Amino acid sequence: MDVFSSPAFDDHEQVLFFYDRPSGLRAIIALHDTTLGPAVGGCRFWPYADDAEALSDVLRLAKSMTYKAAMADLPFGGGKAVIIGDPKVARSEALFRALGRAVHSMAGAYYTGEDVGTCPADMDWAGTETPYVLGRSQGGSGDPSPVTAHGVLLGIKAAVRHRFGHDDLQGLRVAVQGLGNVGGKLAVALAQEGAQIVVADLDAERAARIAEQIGARHVGSDEIVAVDAEIFAPCALGGVIDDATLTRLSCDIVAGAANNQLREPRHGAALHARGILYAPDYVINAGGLINIAQELRPGGYDRDRALAHVATIEATLTEIFERSEQEGLATHQIADEVALERIAASRQQCEAFSGDLEPARARAMVG
Ligand code: NAI
Repeated sequence: MDVFSSPAFDDHEQVLFFYDRPSGLRAIIALHDTTLGPAVGGCRFWPYADDAEALSDVLRLAKSMTYKAAMADLPFGGGKAVIIGDPKVARSEALFRALGRAVHSMAGAYYTGEDVGTCPADMDWAGTETPYVLGRSQGGSGDPSPVTAHGVLLGIKAAVRHRFGHDDLQGLRVAVQGLGNVGGKLAVALAQEGAQIVVADLDAERAARIAEQIGARHVGSDEIVAVDAEIFAPCALGGVIDDATLTRLSCDIVAGAANNQLREPRHGAALHARGILYAPDYVINAGGLINIAQELRPGGYDRDRALAHVATIEATLTEIFERSEQEGLATHQIADEVALERIAASRQQCEAFSGDLEPARARAMVG
């Protein structure tokens, strides 16, 4: 299994492998870039086909957390953990306590939290071993998904306003892929705004139940990308925009919660070329990160402050859409540029600061 030559490797600072025989924990934690601060990012629990798939996922996810924090104006770097296994059969207190010890061994370089396949109660278990856990159900900010869904709804409105000149969702058709913690809540919120919803989930029973609850139509999970709609909202796993789906998409806007929606950057350029407005994933889905990050502010977690910060997602996306139009570049390229500029500026400040320190220290030594 290649690490440094993996296509997903992007100058990551650290990639750590953890194994705990008693609990069966097999985990990888990747830190991408900690220029802006300690790395923050959730822990995904997924039955990866093999270790290489898990490595590729954690590398990609950690990188997107770096960009997400930078775009959300948070003083944090990007990191992520993955546990290899099936949460339905392998979830246990011992396993999450072992994860907590793994995180603790990183001495604050990385804060973990929930992600696909994990939940706040798992973070409570991990948190018995380390303080570097966010989003606990006891004494933490809890489940971040309602705040993520709220941010995605605001982002969809920003995209609709940019594309159609108004942000009234009444009558707009939205295809929601994935009805988990975020997608389920988003579908309900969209229905409350009067949108016409089509839903799909690998779990067909869940799709049917939510469809009935909100008066939506449900289709098979292989059909949802091709549904004729104004908005396609990917809220399942990553890599959904690829060569195959690009030919099937029938929408004006792609805006949803899933991380790493573009299989490769060139797929973002292809969306742009087709005139489909893409809301860069790590900008529109930053609500969860913004929410858990509030725990680290002086005074601790404050939901109103978190929601006020999440509201900035709308303006950030609008700026990206406008720059994309002015510069003729795809929205994901603009977002990457802005994030990299912010990280570079911070790095320069740090370098200038340590440059100032050197002469001062030298003077102190001779004086
Ligand atoms: P979840 O695990 O609760 O839900 C995912 C849902 O997608 C499940 O119901 C699953 O059955 C379904 N699914 C998986 N593959 C599918 C497919 N091919 N077609 C249709 N449905 C499919 O996960 P959650 O928390 O809702 O997250 C969804 C996405 O949003 C993930 O990519 C996650 O990384 C991202 N995200 C989540 C945040 C959060 O606060 N939970 C924050 C930021 C991003």
